[in-house]
Amino acid sequence: MNDIVLVMDSIIVFVHIIAGTVLVSMSSIMQLIVGPAVSLLTDSNQKKLVTEKLKKRRVPVMDGAIIIQIMTAMYLVHARWNMILSEPVMRVKALSGIIALSLAFSAHFYFRNKKNKLMTAGKTAELKTLNEKTRFIEPLVLVFGAIAYVIGIYFNHM
Ligand code: HEM
Repeated sequence: MNDIVLVMDSIIVFVHIIAGTVLVSMSSIMQLIVGPAVSLLTDSNQKKLVTEKLKKRRVPVMDGAIIIQIMTAMYLVHARWNMILSEPVMRVKALSGIIALSLAFSAHFYFRNKKNKLMTAGKTAELKTLNEKTRFIEPLVLVFGAIAYVIGIYFNHM
């Protein structure tokens, strides 16, 4: 690899680490701290206000991190294909990362649009059913994202 390619490669890995850190930390804060705290609110108006505020702050950051992570992971699949195939632990990491990113993408780009459409159409019963069906997605993003994160760090620094 010549110098410029090496520099670009390091920058992409660096961005991959930053976006991964944002994704996993945001996900754990939301799942483990904010979510349970918001569920304690009993006043539905207050709950709606808090949820709206959280959405405004969290959604752009998470969406950005997901897109960046997908793009950098696509590069890494291409650039580190032999490493991924030859190291069993990297195969587990890549698989966990792919599962986490596919789930995150479906929750943030597909199901959110669907939910917004149901909300605008006033179809509250359908919205409730869809919310129930998709409840498992975010916790799984956290589990698989954390596995991908920890293995990534372990592989490079142990
Ligand atoms: C939520 C998803 C993901 C997270 C949180 C994540 C996180 C990380 C972290 C923290 C590192 C460590 C880098 C270091 O400390 O030097 C890393 C490295 C790496 N990741 Fe990911 N990753 C994710 C998804 C993926 C996916 C889907 C792939 C490929 C299919 C992938 C491929 C790699 C590779 C090949 C490396 C090693 C890069 C190198 O140092 O040469 N990652 N990842």
